[in-house]
Amino acid sequence: MNVAIIGTGYVGLTTGACLAFLGHKVTCVDADANKIEALRRGEVPFYEPHLEDLLADASRNLSFTTDYSQAIPDAQVIFIAVGTPPGVGGAPDLRYLQAAAHSVGEQLGPHFTVIVNKSTVPIGSGNWVESLVRERVQLNGSGQPKCFAVASNPEFLREGSAIHDSLYPDRVVIGGDQPKTAEVLYTLYRPLLDQTFTPPTYLPRPDRIGAVPLISTDLASAELIKYAANAFLSLKISYINEIGQLAERVGADILQVARGIGLDARIGTRFLQAGVGWGGSCFGKDTAALIATASEYKLEMPIVSAAREVNHRQRERVIDKLQQELKILKGRTVGVLGLAFKPRTDDLREAPAIEIARRLIERGVRVRAHDPVAMERFKREQPDLNVALCATPEETASDADALVLVTEWPQYRELDWEALAPTMRSPLVLDGRYVLDRGRLGRAGFRYVGLAG
Ligand SMILES: NC(=O)c1ccc[n+]([C@@H]2O[C@H](COP(=O)([O-])OP(=O)(O)OC[C@H]3O[C@@H](n4cnc5c(N)ncnc54)[C@H](O)[C@@H]3O)[C@@H](O)[C@H]2O)c1
Repeated sequence: MNVAIIGTGYVGLTTGACLAFLGHKVTCVDADANKIEALRRGEVPFYEPHLEDLLADASRNLSFTTDYSQAIPDAQVIFIAVGTPPGVGGAPDLRYLQAAAHSVGEQLGPHFTVIVNKSTVPIGSGNWVESLVRERVQLNGSGQPKCFAVASNPEFLREGSAIHDSLYPDRVVIGGDQPKTAEVLYTLYRPLLDQTFTPPTYLPRPDRIGAVPLISTDLASAELIKYAANAFLSLKISYINEIGQLAERVGADILQVARGIGLDARIGTRFLQAGVGWGGSCFGKDTAALIATASEYKLEMPIVSAAREVNHRQRERVIDKLQQELKILKGRTVGVLGLAFKPRTDDLREAPAIEIARRLIERGVRVRAHDPVAMERFKREQPDLNVALCATPEETASDADALVLVTEWPQYRELDWEALAPTMRSPLVLDGRYVLDRGRLGRAGFRYVGLAG
């Protein structure tokens, strides 16, 4: 099929690369000319494992442009995957979505086209996008009634394993109010739903995967599924962090508690890791948007609000713990391991490390940091935050009063901790993700501290 993707960020570029890999003809459009130039040169504008390989493998089916007129008129399916960043009062800022919908409307071809909201958009956005497109279709003066439908196809990929999640999803959700819409999207996704494509060599198909479940529903339900899923994952993390606070008071081991809860198949072990809490571009924004939507309908969401509050508290706890251990923070040097909001990405949006660094600096602490892939981006995006970036974790630790592990990059677990301890002014580690080997660090001479005791 002919497919257009609007927005070449984490979601748009991944979707485009995967659909092209499956054999569709994909044109990716972005408003950012530098990004499009880079993509044409074969450069990937952000760090995402295997994306460069997949783009190369799919290159004969892929093209990149800033010009909507090269992508839209022939497209049978158009995915809108632009950013929907946090706006004022909790609701997302929909200006990029609005601009994209208008531009699509101006260029729509004469055949039936499905316009898909892939961006995470508030409930009701399907109808809104339809009205925006229709406005421009009527204005473009051809006199021909254009035939299109708007669908919702929320994205569930995780940065860091985006290609895996897109090729081998747990489910595909499609929302639309016309049967024809679901048919078109079913045809588009068929190789993925039936898992009939030949997997890339670098990402073999997992053994356990069978046919991928398809949830075909109405627009509002699909839109709500995305928000409800993200809110649930957020509150699972906050729940274990809340239990962690009690575990600390009563002297319980939060790791054993989490395992003991999570092995109950009704609960599950994933998203039950205690620590500094969630970051990233989605959970904060989407929980705020869910609360904002509910309030439009005169409803409160006390559980979701509490999850946000607990998450906020966890970052404050990092500062409190360091203060308890070091007594005076002013004039201390603290090394931060990990800047990205999670491992295997360079995405710094809402990264806990940034807020923790800012609060430490406000308390008079000198902050150093290391990250395997996010430091260049940090320099660009946080020019005013006075953090000394270090080439290695060893340099971050040298002469420091404490190390704080904020992002659980696997290589931090494997550091030569025995050699690190004597280089620090005081060998103190705050393990913000409970991934380090507590016994080993103790034997290496470290004082090991977690957020829950
Ligand atoms: N990043 C994730 O892990 C993830 C996961 C699921 C859902 N989502 C949702 O997907 C959407 C996109 O997120 P992202 O992280 O890919 O965003 P992003 O910021 O990485 O990318 C958005 C892209 O859209 C482009 N753009 C903006 N306005 C445009 C326009 N009018 N025309 C063409 N291009 C335009 C920008 O230049 C940018 O390249 C958001 O709604 C987000 O909530 C993100």
